[in-house]
Amino acid sequence: MQVAFIVDPLSQLQVGHDTSVALMEALQKRGHRIFCLGLADLYWDQGETWGSVEEIVLDLGADPWYEVKERRLLPLSQMQAVWMRKDPPVDAAYLYATYLLDHLSPRRTLVLNHPAGIRSANEKLYALRFKEWIPRTCVSSSKALLRQFVEQVGQAVLKPLGGKGGEGILRVNAGDPNLNSLIELSTQFGRLPVMVQEYLPQAAAGDKRILLLEGEPLGAVNRIPGEGDFRGNVAAGGRVEKTEIAEKERALCAALAPVLRQEKLYFVGIDVIGERLTEINVTSPTMLREICQLEGVDLADQVAQWLEKKVPIKA
Ligand SMILES: Nc1ncnc2c1ncn2[C@@H]1O[C@H](COP(=O)(O)OP(=O)(O)O)[C@@H](O)[C@H]1O
Ligand SMILES: [Mg+2]
Repeated sequence: MQVAFIVDPLSQLQVGHDTSVALMEALQKRGHRIFCLGLADLYWDQGETWGSVEEIVLDLGADPWYEVKERRLLPLSQMQAVWMRKDPPVDAAYLYATYLLDHLSPRRTLVLNHPAGIRSANEKLYALRFKEWIPRTCVSSSKALLRQFVEQVGQAVLKPLGGKGGEGILRVNAGDPNLNSLIELSTQFGRLPVMVQEYLPQAAAGDKRILLLEGEPLGAVNRIPGEGDFRGNVAAGGRVEKTEIAEKERALCAALAPVLRQEKLYFVGIDVIGERLTEINVTSPTMLREICQLEGVDLADQVAQWLEKKVPIKA
């Protein structure tokens, strides 16, 4: 197969941590060719979507871990799969890229996650579709409403709707003299809605990431907040720990599965705290490497095998 990855600049990816690199590595091992491009390398010309792509060969032991064989202009219809794994923010450049990807025919090229699926699923707001599974939550740009919610629950987290890796997540308490100011900063003075959620004390014991492939749980890892922080994100200093998927969490995955399949959100990472759903990561879910290392299983190879079966044109 020829598989294109839309990613952040390769020099910014972390070999030992990044799921995109793990997927590229697994595909290369199985004999497939890897092409990379950024959002700005996508374009539409002569009736179809093209990319200015770099074909790379990975050598994870070397520095850098990839060798660029060639940069070429190619219609992306020549790819069996295009994997959109650009990190958030889902800004205008990101959205425009999804519109260009819409033009790839599903009879020739599998685009994953599906561009329309990504557009419909803001990572924080998408969880609201499964409201019986989420903690008490309010989404608003109104200071009065957000304040009232915090006062009702006592302890809460304020979340900007477009963040990742713990960015901008604040833990707030009723009675905090900074509360008004924190709400103002978070909502950009009432310009943007934010999510406020009851603080789940189980977060201290970990924020569990469960990776789902076509709605089926693939593996999980627990992320424990580091010293002096309440956030479990590895990017915010959290550490990873082996874990199991509990029965209730399997029921949660089963509740999500039909919706994820319907929206062609093939590779997704959900965050679960105290068996409550807090986030559905659809853009560039990570932790595949960590799960493989902790569990001693080659899940990246499993995903590569799945992709071989899923693409419309086998090569
Ligand atoms: N309701 C909650 N209660 C306690 N901690 C939370 C809650 N929601 C999020 N957190 C903490 O904040 C971190 C980031 O939250 P999350 O919603 O997953 O956003 P993102 O990972 O995109 O930054 C989590 O890893 C967790 O430690
Ligand atoms: Mg998260």
